[in-house]
Amino acid sequence: MENLAKKVIMISGANRGIGLAITEKLLSENYRLSLGVRNPEQLPGTLASSADTVLLCQEYDARNHDSAKTWIDATVKQFGRIDGLVNNAGILHATGLEDDEEDLLDDMWEVNAKAPLRLTRLAFPYLRKSGSGRIIDIISMSGKRVKGNLVGYSMSKFAAMAASHAARLQGWDDGIRVTAICPGYVRTDMTAEVKTFEQEKMSRPEDIAQIVNTLLLLPNESVVPEVMMNCVFETH
Ligand SMILES: NC(=O)c1ccc[n+]([C@@H]2O[C@H](COP(=O)([O-])OP(=O)(O)OC[C@H]3O[C@@H](n4cnc5c(N)ncnc54)[C@H](OP(=O)(O)O)[C@@H]3O)[C@@H](O)[C@H]2O)c1
Repeated sequence: MENLAKKVIMISGANRGIGLAITEKLLSENYRLSLGVRNPEQLPGTLASSADTVLLCQEYDARNHDSAKTWIDATVKQFGRIDGLVNNAGILHATGLEDDEEDLLDDMWEVNAKAPLRLTRLAFPYLRKSGSGRIIDIISMSGKRVKGNLVGYSMSKFAAMAASHAARLQGWDDGIRVTAICPGYVRTDMTAEVKTFEQEKMSRPEDIAQIVNTLLLLPNESVVPEVMMNCVFETH
């Protein structure tokens, strides 16, 4: 059986929500993890006891261009390789079609669209070396259709989807396999203020973690380019 302990997976925004659930699941599956978080000193207690041979926690801010390279370099220095990247960190600002919210649009473009592309670009040489590199982009159903006052969020997630597809095409010959995961509502801080849909009926971060774990186990010959996860009926 393949030795999972050798695989090194990077996860952005690993300190809470979907990123934390993925982190906890992959730790339990004996991966070595490199976490990119804005405040490493505020890592949840559940992770604090992990040895530094299996867990690196590095400062990473999606708005700071240099921190992506610093995080990649720190990962390679600590583990000597990168086998997977989970582009999870993201933000949501509600902006409608007729709102004049240029700053919010720019912020989502920076964090949701440009930052994952930057990490993908920097990780690519190492994922190539891995021979079975994986990129998992946590996008959204908002990367596939547009609803309500989420025009700006959708624009950023459609853009992230474009980068995900580009990586999927460009990495194929070198064994890099890329999946875009597109959930609807997930029960995290991001949706805590949603009043129009019950929290209990939202998908759970653990369900996404389960999918990420399965995707990482699949061989190069069985790639899943896109996963849609619905908690309500969707026509897409
Ligand atoms: N919740 C949903 O309904 C839903 C649905 C579809 C897709 N998604 C996507 O899933 C991903 C995770 O969302 P979530 O629901 O887990 O949200 P969340 O609970 O709000 O967590 C967001 C994560 O992203 C990190 N982050 C935000 N801005 C960052 C920055 N500038 N640099 C580095 N990290 C940053 C946060 O770190 P801090 O703690 O430092 O802020 C946090 O770890 C996002 O890409 C989101 O768009 C969420």
